[in-house]
Amino acid sequence: MFDLIVKGGTLPDGRVADIGMRGKTIAAVDDLSGAEAAEVIEASGDLVSPPFVDPHFHLDATLSYGLPRINASGTLLEGIGLWGELKQVVTQDEMVERALAYCDWAASMGLLAIRSHVDTCDDRLLGVEAMLEVRERVRDYIDLQLVAFPQDGLYRDPTARANTIRALDIGVDVVGGIPHFERTMADGAASVRELCQIAADRGLMVDMHCDETDDPLSRHVETLAFEAQRLGLQGRVTGSHLTSMHSMDSYYVSKLLPLMAEAGLAAIPNPLINIMLQGRHDAYPKRRGLTRVKEMQAHGITVGWGQDCVLDPWYSLGTADMLDVAFMGLHVAQMTSPEEMARCFDMVTHQNAQILGLADYGLAPGNRASLVVLDAGNPIEALRLRPSRLAVVSNGKVISRMPREDATLTLPDRPDSVRRRHRIN
Ligand code: FE2
Repeated sequence: MFDLIVKGGTLPDGRVADIGMRGKTIAAVDDLSGAEAAEVIEASGDLVSPPFVDPHFHLDATLSYGLPRINASGTLLEGIGLWGELKQVVTQDEMVERALAYCDWAASMGLLAIRSHVDTCDDRLLGVEAMLEVRERVRDYIDLQLVAFPQDGLYRDPTARANTIRALDIGVDVVGGIPHFERTMADGAASVRELCQIAADRGLMVDMHCDETDDPLSRHVETLAFEAQRLGLQGRVTGSHLTSMHSMDSYYVSKLLPLMAEAGLAAIPNPLINIMLQGRHDAYPKRRGLTRVKEMQAHGITVGWGQDCVLDPWYSLGTADMLDVAFMGLHVAQMTSPEEMARCFDMVTHQNAQILGLADYGLAPGNRASLVVLDAGNPIEALRLRPSRLAVVSNGKVISRMPREDATLTLPDRPDSVRRRHRIN
């Protein structure tokens, strides 16, 4: 007897299986014909995936688009300036309200684990307090991991260092940074060293905004990898963005990638945002705003796709759909072989879960009873269609249902109306 069975779903690896759940745990992934359950979802060939995971987001800024004005230049630097203006006027309640509204979107899209950076450059720690409250309020259905992020620079902002440590003291989970925004390369490298030491002393993970610039000489990722290795933080340190690697000299990159692999560094490119922000100073040809994804993966480096922003000072669109993120990443990184496309789906599920360190993630007995049923037949079709999330299960409870979206056409040359589905598999 199960509490819930999802019947006949196609798993991301192509197997067709029933998934039986008891309480908050997956009890069986098998042929469960004849088994009874209090509740049954008929998946009937629909793709059943573990939930989507977003390893890079800014929940304190989300849904604030247009406040107090829009980003006219479309650059990272104007976005940071604009966020600075908004921080002066936003209230804690407004931040909580917007973040919770976003979490509703995320839950409905099957996005059930989020790592969010939270700006620590505020003596009141308003955003930190707000996001700690949100983490508690969504705890039953979304795993929210918070990163202490000194947005204005650990050293560039006079109180950032003290406020970042205060944020960690009151419960923020991960150590962040932004070395390329410090005043000098030397300060940037020093900030990486100090923040990694803080993480090592406290037993925390590290996730830094790193080299989010078109400057090929922005090489803080080298220091990040070296410090991860020196401090024994292998597998616990992530470099987010890493866009400068796109512009780096290839000989230097041939030395950098093995260092990153030895250090167990993970990487999070954010393709929606960086295809918009990067290359803004270029005449033609304009550079793509993406790091070297396939080359890192060829070296065994874990790479996950991140979303970064939805409707905020840096990005004017966004839907909380990690398939949108993977779809853009697939295009910009030219990951177009069947194996590479399937890997793009794995990046927004298993790879991202690994970066967050989610222990009981995945569709296997003993793991958390969380999954999403999609109106697609396999991961590649899911990327092509970015379809309805027919059902979302979190901790054994069905938290969202969505209908299939089929068009009904009435055409002059056809006697009857026809249903048109874009799904093939
Ligand atoms: Fe970010």
